[in-house]
Amino acid sequence: MRPGGATARLLFFLSFFTSGIHLLFSDTDPRDAAALNSLKTQWQNTPPSWGQSDDPCGAPWEGVTCSNSRITALGLSTMSLVGKLSGDIGGLAELRSLDLSFNSNLTGPLSPRLGDLLNLNILILAGCSFSGSIPDELGNLAKLSFLALNSNNFSGGIPPSLGKLSKLYWLDLADNQLTGTIPISRGTTPGLDLLLNAKHFHFNKNQLSGSLPPELFSSDMMLIHVLFDGNQLEGNIPPTICQVQTLEVLRLDRNSLYGDVPDNLNNLTNLIELNLAHNMLAGPFPNLTKMDALNYVDLSNNSFESSEAPDWFLTLSSLTTLVIEQGSLQGILPAEVFSFPQLQQVLLRNNAFNGSFNMGVSISPQLQLVDLQNNQISTVTLTADYTNRLILVGNPVCTALSNTSYCQLQQQSTKPYSTSLANCGSKMCPIEQKLSPQSCECAYPYEGSLYFRAPSFRELSNENTFHSLEMSLWDELGLTPGSVFLQNPFFNVDDYLQVQVALFPPTGKYFNRSEIQRIGFYLSNQTYKPPKYFGPYYFIASNYPFPDGSGGNSLSSGVVVGIGIGCGLLVMSLVGVGIYAIRQKKRAEKAIGLSKPFASWAPSGNDSGGAPQLKGARWFSYDELKKCTSNFSQSNEIGSGGYGKVYRGMLSDGQVVAIKRSQKGSMQGGLEFKTEIELLSRVHHKNLVGLVGFCFELGEQMLVYEYMPNGTLRESLSGRLTSTTTVMQERLENNIGRTLTKQPIEKGKYIVREARMRLDRNDETHHGLKEIMDPGIRNMGNLVGFGRFLELAMQCVEESAAERPTMSEVVKELEILLKNDGMNTNSTTSASSSATDFGASRDGPVRHPYNEVIAKNKDGNSVDNANRDAFDHNGGATLSEKAGST
Ligand SMILES: *[C@@H]1O[C@H](CO)[C@@H](O)[C@H](O)[C@H]1NC(C)=O
Ligand SMILES: *[C@@H]1O[C@H](CO)[C@@H](O)[C@H](O)[C@H]1NC(C)=O
Ligand SMILES: *[C@@H]1O[C@H](CO)[C@@H](O)[C@H](O)[C@H]1NC(C)=O
Ligand SMILES: *[C@@H]1O[C@H](CO)[C@@H](O)[C@H](O)[C@H]1NC(C)=O
Ligand SMILES: *[C@@H]1O[C@H](CO)[C@@H](O)[C@H](O)[C@H]1NC(C)=O
Ligand SMILES: *[C@@H]1O[C@H](CO)[C@@H](O)[C@H](O)[C@H]1NC(C)=O
Ligand SMILES: *[C@@H]1O[C@H](CO)[C@@H](O)[C@H](O)[C@H]1NC(C)=O
Ligand SMILES: *[C@@H]1O[C@H](CO)[C@@H](O)[C@H](O)[C@H]1NC(C)=O
Ligand SMILES: *[C@@H]1O[C@H](CO)[C@@H](O)[C@H](O)[C@H]1NC(C)=O
Repeated sequence: MRPGGATARLLFFLSFFTSGIHLLFSDTDPRDAAALNSLKTQWQNTPPSWGQSDDPCGAPWEGVTCSNSRITALGLSTMSLVGKLSGDIGGLAELRSLDLSFNSNLTGPLSPRLGDLLNLNILILAGCSFSGSIPDELGNLAKLSFLALNSNNFSGGIPPSLGKLSKLYWLDLADNQLTGTIPISRGTTPGLDLLLNAKHFHFNKNQLSGSLPPELFSSDMMLIHVLFDGNQLEGNIPPTICQVQTLEVLRLDRNSLYGDVPDNLNNLTNLIELNLAHNMLAGPFPNLTKMDALNYVDLSNNSFESSEAPDWFLTLSSLTTLVIEQGSLQGILPAEVFSFPQLQQVLLRNNAFNGSFNMGVSISPQLQLVDLQNNQISTVTLTADYTNRLILVGNPVCTALSNTSYCQLQQQSTKPYSTSLANCGSKMCPIEQKLSPQSCECAYPYEGSLYFRAPSFRELSNENTFHSLEMSLWDELGLTPGSVFLQNPFFNVDDYLQVQVALFPPTGKYFNRSEIQRIGFYLSNQTYKPPKYFGPYYFIASNYPFPDGSGGNSLSSGVVVGIGIGCGLLVMSLVGVGIYAIRQKKRAEKAIGLSKPFASWAPSGNDSGGAPQLKGARWFSYDELKKCTSNFSQSNEIGSGGYGKVYRGMLSDGQVVAIKRSQKGSMQGGLEFKTEIELLSRVHHKNLVGLVGFCFELGEQMLVYEYMPNGTLRESLSGRLTSTTTVMQERLENNIGRTLTKQPIEKGKYIVREARMRLDRNDETHHGLKEIMDPGIRNMGNLVGFGRFLELAMQCVEESAAERPTMSEVVKELEILLKNDGMNTNSTTSASSSATDFGASRDGPVRHPYNEVIAKNKDGNSVDNANRDAFDHNGGATLSEKAGST
């Protein structure tokens, strides 16, 4: 680092202060805190704890998990969040798990910056309302193992880049509006066939077209669930699918597949559910003889050649469910099929079974329904062993037996299961509350629907089946035994088993937010596993009615007072700056001289001149800006001041910007202007108005900022204040032994007052502030000049603006202080020329003056580490943000 840049650094530091960007003494890495704060301002209904501290890790924000001051997990399932997922999320560089599931009012497209979360392991956005295409950049998330984007409103194609996610084990894109074909690797283009670790391909309920490419499947794969049902796929079922020996569930139903079913489908001996229904498959009826594990078969509504019942009707003894409606099956229906011990339902309507029908003598004790409507059965041999539903309506036999229950549709059917509330008597609950089957008390349950996409059974009246579901829910979700209420299970139009679930809090009327987040996550990341025969599932939660209502995100007013207080924080900081500067004196060397700023715009190793080191800011021509403000028309004016005017404009790409145009006379020197651009372009903090670009042409100086409506700026500002005051407050609290009010403004005022009271001019070293000083400075020893810095700092926190020095006065004063203390900065004495110094420090990230101090004192606590990071970050290298990416 160039020691000559001392003043520059100082200025840099000050600029941050005035920008209010710095998070002092936080347990959270400032980059993370900044990103999260920014997300917070964009979301409604964030948890109330998100307003109370500005230290998401230290005074923890609900749903935020940290490790070593970095945010590693964000779990906000079912928080009723409203808003969008902006690029700020990309700032949480250490994030491993992101769960925003079941926030149905999260909308808009996904930011490509999700692709910056290179440590991400789990990404769950299920059950929101995101739209637009799935960003290609997700393919960069090399560590991703769990990706659930299901039940949103995504459109466009499946990005081939997802094929790069070699660790991926769960891929769920179901229930969106995805179109296009299934991407396969070709040459250097990746494709889904490369996902050799994937166990779950869930693509159901989209609008995917084209064929199922043969290359998609290979014997190297480990897939257990392949769900392509409910798309617009055409062509043949590729024989290669039969090489995926691990397969347990194959759902290709509800497409337009045609051609023969591959002969070797039989190879899939682990298959539990096979659903090929509602296609146009032709050729011989599929041969499933070797699929011994098969529980559930649906081959309805295809174009198979008519045939007699296939051999496997006699041998597949694991079957629970046999569905072949519109199957052109004919001849005698063999009795053996009814003897399979687990058989629950046989649905064979609209075939051509004829002759006599006899269910035989050994009938499955579980059999509940045999539907043979609209066949050609002419005689029936009934048996006393079977008294459950048998439907023969539409068969010739019913012309003779029309009086029997078999020939009538209105039969008594078994009721689907529902958790019993019999013990609770006739107690009623107020609206939104429900009766807990465990306590018989009214409470607000966590409710939603479980969708089982391939249960291996069909019968919904079986108590054991659903008791085991209840038990698994309370057990695995850590709830009180019996606190689960199930209702109204049914097979919906997609042939998913849908179950209404209500989970009750262990005590009291409500779950708290952490519990909701936890349970939501357990259900969205498949920590919860239902009994195996329920198969793959997904959950969609309803909004949870937290007692504190929504909101919780409103920010206090008093921004004007706040500015004074923000300045108050300068007390501590300026002290640090000053001391740093003094310590620098021995190493001080010549500061750079002025040179022509824009003489050469080519990158140069020179410390001065050369093109600004821009981080994403671009150069605009005068004409361009003139055009986008309608010739700087008065109607586009949104502000004015001594420096000139601010215009609103719209760039050719549609971005709305604010353009600050300097008045002649108030213009800076070229180098200053350059410096300001460099500084601003580095400061791409999302809570600040970002610099989009600049114009330096035809004697004009203009800066182009992102346009930020008033509210946002206010919110950002008060957000900052909360954060900066928090740690100060903690230090004071420790000292005075009582807890301060939670109001940020009040806190700030209090801190200033406290500092004033403690000031003691007789204490030559610490001036009475020893206890509340940063230990890094306190322990340094040499505090020459501290008092004078302090005095200046106190001036900065005067109540009345008139009594506060201007920025340039502060700088000037500081320079004088430095000089008098023997430090030779060799720069000119005007504030503006020292600003030029700043450009000198661009050979590396600008460092925070505290850094070295702290490092030297080995004060390695995380607070100060975080602090250090803030400045490395803000200084440039690590913060390479774009301007204008959306
Ligand atoms: C979500 O949006 C819907 C309609 O857009 C609205 O009725 C509902 O109140 C919103 N929910 C929340 C939690 O804001
Ligand atoms: C989903 O997107 C489609 C267009 O792709 C749109 O017509 C529809 O209204 C959207 N639905 C919701 C719930 O946002
Ligand atoms: C059947 O599965 C075996 C693995 O058990 C595999 O080697 C073989 O290629 C498969 N046969 C066909 C025709 O796919
Ligand atoms: C049969 O499948 C086709 C699609 O292949 C669908 O259009 C039709 O509605 C289905 N018929 C029945 C009765 O399910
Ligand atoms: C069905 O497949 C089995 C085993 O692959 C074979 O032995 C049997 O002959 C096949 N049945 C028909 C009708 O092709
Ligand atoms: C059943 O139908 C088949 C084919 O239509 C026919 O050959 C056979 O004779 C019928 N059997 C009886 C008993 O009607
Ligand atoms: C059928 O119903 C009619 C009247 O609905 C009744 O008169 C007749 O006895 C019934 N026949 C048998 C076999 O139950
Ligand atoms: C939320 O509830 C759980 C279980 O009742 C409890 O252990 C936890 O401390 C609560 N968390 C908060 C922040 O209140
Ligand atoms: C769900 O998340 C937990 C915690 O991160 C993790 O241990 C578990 O493996 C995840 N489950 C799945 C199925 O990925």
